[in-house]
Formats: sequence, structure tokens, C-alpha cells
Amino acid sequence: MKREDIVTLDKRHVWHPYTAMDEYIARTNPLVVVRAEGPYLYDADGTRYLDANGSWWVSTLGHRHPRLVRALTEQAGALPHTSLAGVTHEPAARLARELVAMAPGAERADLAEGERLSRVFYTDNGSTAVEVAIKMVAQYWAQNGRRQRTRFITLSGAFHGETIGSTSVGGVEVFRDIFGPLLFDVVHVPSPADPEGWERAFAQVEATLREHPDEIAAVILEPVIQGAAGMHMYSPEFVRAVREATRAVDTFLIADEVFTGMGRTGARFACDLAGVVPDLLCLAKALSGGLMPFAVTLATERIFAGFGGGSERALYYGHSYCGNPLGAAVAREVLAVYRDEDVLGQVARKAPKVKAAFEHMARTIPGVTRPRAVGMVGAVDLGSGGYLARGGWRVYEAARRRGLYLRPMGDTVYIAPALNIPDAALDELLAGVEASLREVAAARP
Ligand SMILES: Cc1ncc(COP(=O)(O)O)c(C=O)c1O
Repeated sequence: MKREDIVTLDKRHVWHPYTAMDEYIARTNPLVVVRAEGPYLYDADGTRYLDANGSWWVSTLGHRHPRLVRALTEQAGALPHTSLAGVTHEPAARLARELVAMAPGAERADLAEGERLSRVFYTDNGSTAVEVAIKMVAQYWAQNGRRQRTRFITLSGAFHGETIGSTSVGGVEVFRDIFGPLLFDVVHVPSPADPEGWERAFAQVEATLREHPDEIAAVILEPVIQGAAGMHMYSPEFVRAVREATRAVDTFLIADEVFTGMGRTGARFACDLAGVVPDLLCLAKALSGGLMPFAVTLATERIFAGFGGGSERALYYGHSYCGNPLGAAVAREVLAVYRDEDVLGQVARKAPKVKAAFEHMARTIPGVTRPRAVGMVGAVDLGSGGYLARGGWRVYEAARRRGLYLRPMGDTVYIAPALNIPDAALDELLAGVEASLREVAAARP
């Protein structure tokens, strides 16, 4: 099919996510991706684009990694799908064991059995990984003697997904406001990434827990980086302090590592940077390497045990594709590639380059501020206009002319590329971001 015909059909029928469609239909010449390989996307017009965000933070091993493609094909030849209700299969069983063995705290001898992340619940995207965590917590307290515990503490700037439950615990106003009447009530505390420092946010978490220990079901957070807020980064000390405060009143901590997990921050999980074991851990995106929609929620043995004792106490939750064999087989291979290619070692080597490059940009380009980096994530701001600001989109256009796909978040320009991006491609990416920012800065009145 010709490129323009694809675009015509698309503009006639496709409703794109996170897109102002009238503007898109009138003015956007979209990328029409026909092929992807490693860190690159290929447009139908022959242009090659360096994928600066791993296609929505998913492809941490690059596109079409041959080992992942092989694992997918082999599994498709044997068992592409079965439900997981009273049925099981080898990929789901083996993946669960592997995830439990690498979860935060797995190596800690001092951890009580009940505090170990020893159970794996499968879903198929990050939002549902969070949604089921919310339901697990609510049901656990309802049937284990703490019926009043129904409120969640969440951080301003948090993003946990698109379902009504995960939107309720979100803290980015532009994504929440319109649904206000449908959302359940939560306790919002300031973001630990605010310039005032994490201590202010923590003081409010601690005070709320102390004053309402009977009401708070859990604290939920994205450890160390609030991604969708605009790559807001904060100290692991906050996560540690929150863990201690939740333990002090015996309530739960949900770590949403849909973005930060799988080596993005330089550690396997951002919780590991803080030395923290949460009660629930949500993973998606990179877990299945960009080949299948796939997600997990790891739960402690204590939470799991709270659902035993009769069929009326079971967790009645599940999606058609829970634990899909294709996703599970690919995720197992993702974990194997991380081990075999020493992906964490690669991040340790490349991360200082990312940090130095973003600091250099903020130091030398007028109007570019707040350089920040953790692991393979680097970001700067062009203003303070939030998600709907247009500054980043001017950089997007400049970057596109240079063969980079650099989708911004409002005024925030960032990279979150494949963790195994070759050195030369990383150099090309950082140089391209800098040149694009300079071009936009120079064109300002
Ligand atoms: C921290 C976090 N949680 C949950 C989600 C939702 O994941 P999904 O888009 O797979 O539903 C996202 C998506 O960006 C995320 O960054």
C-alpha cells in the first residue's frame, strides 16, 4: 500500500491515543512505520528514525531482537493461547518462578516469609497491573479485619494508568480533571520531586498515616521517577522513608515499576536503589520487550494468604489474556537476554554519558533548564508549561528533520531509549537532541 493511502485511511478511521485528533487530521504528517530494527524505526518513505523513547518506554532491548522473535515464533507454533483459570502452562509457571527469584528482597535472608514477593498475578498492560493491585489491597483489608481501610495515599504528579481505578490514584491533573466525578477519593500529597525536597512530601505521608492508620489501605508510588509527569526524579530515600512509615502502621506499599522496572534506572528495579521490598510490585512495558502486551503484579505471601479460606474470599479478577503463553514465553526470553547481554552493566557504562550530555545542554543552551538523569533516562525542560505546552513539539519537529523520533511531554524533552542501544547510536541520539534544542532556542524571538 502506498504511504499516502495508509495516511488517508488512518485519518478517516483511526482514533489515536493521547492525540488532539482535529489538529492531527488537519496538520500532522505522521510517521508511517513499516519496519523496526534495534534502536531504529523505518518510515514508508525510506527515512530511518532513531527511536528516542523505545516506542512508549517498551523496547528496552531494541526492536525485533532476534532471540525474542524466535521465542515468540516457537511458542506460537505450540500454544498461542489458553485461559489461566484453573489451567496452567509451562511459560507461566517458569516465568513466575524466575520473577520471584529476581524480585526486590529475593536475596535477603532476614526477610520474613510473609514479606516476600512470592506470588505472580498476570495481566496484559500497566494499567491493569495497577488496577489489580488496588483491588487486591481493598479486598485484603475488607476480609481480614480492617474494613475501614479503603483510602490510598498517592503523590501529586503520579501516573498509574488509564482505567478508572488507576486514574483515581493518579496525580496529573490534566489526565484526571475531566473524570473527577467518576474517581474515588484519595489522599494526595506533594510530589517528592518538588523543589522543596522529598522531606515535605514525606512529612505529609507520615502525618496522614499517623492520624488515619485505620483508613489508609496503601501508599502507591512510582519509585524514583514519575515518568508521565515529565520525568520528575527524586531521591530513593523517600521510598525508604515511606516503606518504614507504612510498616510502622502495618499498611501496604504498592510500587508501580511499569516504567522504572527492568533496568531503566540502572538497577533491576528502582526499589532496589532504595533497598525496599514493597507489598505489591507492578511491571509491564519492557517485561515483554515490545512483542506482546503483557504485565504482572507481584504480591507478598501475606497478601496472597489473605485470600484463602473459602471460595467467597477468592480474588474474582481476570482478563482474557492473563498469562498469555506468547507473552510469558517472550518475557522469559527477555530476562534471559538481560542476563546474557549484561544489560545492567551496559546501563552502568552508558548512564554517565546521558547525564553529562543533558547537563551540558542545560548549561550551554539558553532557555533549557532542569537537567536530570537516572540510568538511561535523561530530560530537560524548555519552560514550565506542563503537559499541554508546545515547546517540546518544536523540538520534536527539529529532531524529526534529523532522523530522530523524540516525542516530548509538553515542555519536557527527554530520552528513554533501548538500554542496549549501541554506543554510536547513543552518540547520534544525544548529538541530535542537542542540535534540535539549539535550533529551537536560536529561533526564539
Ligand atoms: C508508571 C506507569 N504505570 C502505569 C502505566 C500504564 O501502563 P499501560 O500504558 O501499559 O497501561 C504507565 C504508562 O505509561 C506508567 O508509566
